[in-house]
Amino acid sequence: MFTRTSPSTGPNSPRVDGFYESDTGSVQYVVSDPETKQAALIDIVQDFDPASGRTAYRSAQTALDFVRDNGLEVVWILDTHPHADHLMAQSWLKQQTGAPTGIGEKVHEIAGLWSDIYNMPNGFDPDRDFDHLFSDGAKFKLGNLDVRVILSPGHTLGSITYVIGDAALVHDTFMHVDAGTTRADFPGGSSSELYASLQRILDLPDDTRLFVGHDYPPVGDRKDPAWEATVADHRANNKHIGGGVSESEFRKLRDARDATLDLPDRMLHALQVNLRGGRLPEPEGDGRSYFKIPANHFTERNT
Ligand SMILES: [Fe+2]
Repeated sequence: MFTRTSPSTGPNSPRVDGFYESDTGSVQYVVSDPETKQAALIDIVQDFDPASGRTAYRSAQTALDFVRDNGLEVVWILDTHPHADHLMAQSWLKQQTGAPTGIGEKVHEIAGLWSDIYNMPNGFDPDRDFDHLFSDGAKFKLGNLDVRVILSPGHTLGSITYVIGDAALVHDTFMHVDAGTTRADFPGGSSSELYASLQRILDLPDDTRLFVGHDYPPVGDRKDPAWEATVADHRANNKHIGGGVSESEFRKLRDARDATLDLPDRMLHALQVNLRGGRLPEPEGDGRSYFKIPANHFTERNT
């Protein structure tokens, strides 16, 4: 697995280790406090093969192996939003570590949207499946580090950014500088809200390290995945929004590009698991879990 370390830059600055999951182009993070060795696992993937319906925890185990090898203690299991491209691993990670889980409080609204799509009126109960539902401005500690939550909708209506010391885990808002920004066309998404969220993140101090949720190399001449850049770098050079792009220009570009993108092949599997904190649907009489997939709800793309 392609990994990269962003070292602590001093007091109130975490070490951030990124782990690239190449099946879905997802970046998973272990964010740790060098003083206390306490760590948060953020946006960790539950492996899933859509062809066979098989799930696995290889990616999550890699993160736990890293934690063990570096003498860290997991104290938070966090996600930035219910992902549409991959299943999340919170529930399993909680079983393994005992650490509490968290996501943004607007997961309630996202669950409402998807319970209609799946026709599962009581299908989701975020209060049951997540230990902490963070509101905009929520604060907590990771070891000695200060963590602040910023609501940053657009990609989903309830996405949140974790600002941890001088690092910000910005999930699917920005992509890497040379790739631009993330799609805003999923249910509850909005290019207008995404623009506002991007601006809010750009208001963080210039040297804040931004860590994005996805990369899909190759990008131009760049072959390896990349996920870290500063606020100053994005403000000046981001492909979609650098140099002071207006909201109308951005929305035109974003909406046109989104209209060309295929839906993720795991989307309809992922949401019904992710809105349950990474738990598979309740086993049926034979002890197996089954996915529920709405036929003819979404429109095919690129056909
Ligand atoms: Fe996402």
